[in-house]
Formats: sequence, C-alpha cells, structure tokens
Amino acid sequence: MEAIQAILTRYSCRKFTDQLPSELDLQTIALAAAASPSGMNRQLWRVIVVTNPQLIADMEAEGMKNLAAFPDRSAYDRIMLRGGKLYYNAPCMIVVPIEEGNPPGAEYFDCGIVSENIAIAAAGQGVNSLICGLAAFSFNGEKGAEFKRRLGFPEGYEIGIAVLLGYAAESGGKPHEPDLTKISYIK
Ligand SMILES: Cc1cc2nc3c(=O)[nH]c(=O)nc-3n(C[C@H](O)[C@H](O)[C@H](O)COP(=O)(O)O)c2cc1C
Repeated sequence: MEAIQAILTRYSCRKFTDQLPSELDLQTIALAAAASPSGMNRQLWRVIVVTNPQLIADMEAEGMKNLAAFPDRSAYDRIMLRGGKLYYNAPCMIVVPIEEGNPPGAEYFDCGIVSENIAIAAAGQGVNSLICGLAAFSFNGEKGAEFKRRLGFPEGYEIGIAVLLGYAAESGGKPHEPDLTKISYIK
C-alpha cells in the first residue's frame, strides 16, 4: 500500500476480533517501529510485541481497576460507554517503554512518532490499530513493577505508550475527516 493511502485509511479501532495478525505482519510492524526517527538518534525506547492472552487480560484488569479509582472519571466513563474494555479485546499490543531523555520529556516526542509508525505500518499490512495512552493505567498502581518485569522493561524504563493491533470486529470505525481549515500555505 502507498504510504499516503495507509495514512489516510488508518483509524482508531475500538472493537477487535480475536484473530492475531501473522508473525510476518507483526515483524514488519515492529521493524517499522524500530526504524522510527528520534532526537539525536537516541532511540530511547523498546518495542515489545505482546500476544500472550493472559498477560493482556491481567493488564486489562489492573488498568481498569486503576482507571476506576482515578479522581477524573471522564476517561473511565468513556471506556464504559464503549464496552468497558481498556484494550478493546485486542489480541496483540505493542508496548513501548521509554527512558528519560535530555532534556526530560524529549522522549515523548520520539514515543509519539514510534506509535504512529506502528499504526501506519499496521494499516499498510491491513491490520487495524489503536494508539492507547491509557495503557499507562496498567502500570501506575500496585502491579506496575510486576508488569514491567513480565514485559522485560530494562532498568529505568517507564511506560511510554501501547498500540493495540488486530482486526476490526465490525465496520464501526472509519478515518476521521481531516480538518482542512487547519492547513495554510505561506508563499
Ligand atoms: C497519544 C494518543 C493516545 C491515545 N490514547 C487512547 C486511549 O487510551 N484510548 C482510546 O480509545 N483512544 C486513544 N487514542 C485515540 C484517539 O482518541 C484518536 O486518535 C482520535 O480520536 C482520532 O481518531 P482516529 O484515530 O480514528 O483518527 C489516542 C491517540 C493518541 C494520538
């Protein structure tokens, strides 16, 4: 698929079947993640492809528990309206832990680019995706250290982002209409 077509067809999938993308597709998507640009080419990330259903289920339960206890209820309420699943039953997720950049915070730019590379590469392979910032809730409670260990985070790494991968359960999602009024050209 052309890059522009992959970009324009990507959308956030919020209902997945249990069908796993092929090993080859996952390897291609992980390669696209690791090929991302980063400030000074520091690559302060890891790319962890998770297909273990028990691990995803455990992270789901812990994330929802922590989200429910969070004082701002808006994200929890939104998830409940969408079926009550932080990870929308995705059979696969790529977890991207990050190491603090210099200056601190710089790593989040790189992390955002990695997540979009994953999402676009997935679209190119015909795989649906969702960039999941709320995955942080699986790590910010009492089981955070356990998940870091089970996922093999290197010492000093914290959760950056996760991207859910799989196939859409229904044709519910579609790309949002790009707002062309946000574009200007100065000649
Ligand atoms: C950094 C980032 C974090 C996001 N985190 C979540 C999330 O935790 N849960 C969710 O349902 N959507 C999440 N989204 C998806 C956005 O809601 C979505 O991209 C936006 O509504 C535009 O829709 P589209 O992706 O279909 O174009 C996230 C998107 C980005 C870029």
